[in-house]
Amino acid sequence: MNKRINIAIDGPAGAGKSTVARKVADYLSFLYIDTGAMYRALTFKAIEKNVDLEDGPSLKLLLDKTVIDLQVGEKEQLVLIDHRNVTTEIRSSHVTNNVSFVARQSEVREEMVKRQKLLAERGGVVMDGRDIGTHVLPKSELKVFLSASVEERASRRYKELVDNGIEANYEQIKEEIALRDKRDTEREVAPLVKASDAIEIDTTTMTILEVVDHILQLAKERA
Ligand code: DC
Repeated sequence: MNKRINIAIDGPAGAGKSTVARKVADYLSFLYIDTGAMYRALTFKAIEKNVDLEDGPSLKLLLDKTVIDLQVGEKEQLVLIDHRNVTTEIRSSHVTNNVSFVARQSEVREEMVKRQKLLAERGGVVMDGRDIGTHVLPKSELKVFLSASVEERASRRYKELVDNGIEANYEQIKEEIALRDKRDTEREVAPLVKASDAIEIDTTTMTILEVVDHILQLAKERA
């Protein structure tokens, strides 16, 4: 690909964004940035430091003193807070169920968006999240909105956990995903919405490879 475009991938929890975004980035030798991991990292640190998860100004103070690094790992993207590897910890259900509170604080979002824009400054980035096409990279050449039914998203999460030897309850996962969708779409600051110029791909009955191929085709047309 001769032009280093930026690709924004948004969508609700469990729509396959990170798996798909990572594969697209690998294929194009682009940088993959998981913005959800940044909100998770701050949530993890705030819990550890006993900072109120609904106190925007205090969270912003904490974020100002926090270095969040995303590195390319062998199997997955590594997430480091202040040079400490927290890749596994930020996926715990405690962080997962609390991250929406942190992510809805405007002070936090403002700083995160600033950091994310910097990462994409030179192009060649595949970034996934909830507000990438609408706020972080509104001028990106390709915007994709991935969706899937809540049942399908819950069963994917369930399978992922079970495959990793983690005990899971499908009904509970479905409820948690629905709740997170509600919080993410109904929040006041940068709610999850499809950008008007984003291409929606309903992945409910598609394989990961089919979704990746589709996005690569779109990227080729844009470059
Ligand atoms: O993609 P994820 O499930 O790891 O994201 C974790 C949470 O962070 C999710 O509940 C919504 C929030 N988030 C956000 O508000 N904006 C982003 N760009 C990415 C994630």
